[in-house]
Amino acid sequence: MNDLKLMLEAAEARKSAYTPYSHFRVGAALLTAEGKVYRGCNIENAAYTPTNCAERTAFFKAVSEGERRFEAIAIAAGKEGEALTFTAPCGVCRQVMMEFCDPETFRVLLGTPAQFRSFTLKELLPEGFGPLDLTV
Ligand code: THU
Repeated sequence: MNDLKLMLEAAEARKSAYTPYSHFRVGAALLTAEGKVYRGCNIENAAYTPTNCAERTAFFKAVSEGERRFEAIAIAAGKEGEALTFTAPCGVCRQVMMEFCDPETFRVLLGTPAQFRSFTLKELLPEGFGPLDLTV
């Protein structure tokens, strides 16, 4: 799996987005240390707050299957019927990444398959709070 393929997986995942309210469709592709890819999409809700972001859908699918070690996540997003746009993950999703990933090495790919950039989690969440802060 390379970065371009992971971005293409995210774009594919976006096709399943359930977005009757915002019409903003997001797909994510999460790469495990063993090379397996878990796809996720955003799933909205009439009550709004139960909405789940694409990134968290991918993480929760993977973690619920026993995965604990992750390399990278690609995110593809944009308004329904329009081209993909550069979209960074929300703060809640960054915090979920912080729970399971090393911020120095975990990479977040943002943009489109044609033009994307790689960030470390640390760049997106500097001075983040994580599991290590609770160890004595
Ligand atoms: N959304 C994501 O799926 N990921 C993000 O990082 C940002 C926001 C979704 C949530 C909601 O369904 C829609 O985009 C508009 O906020």
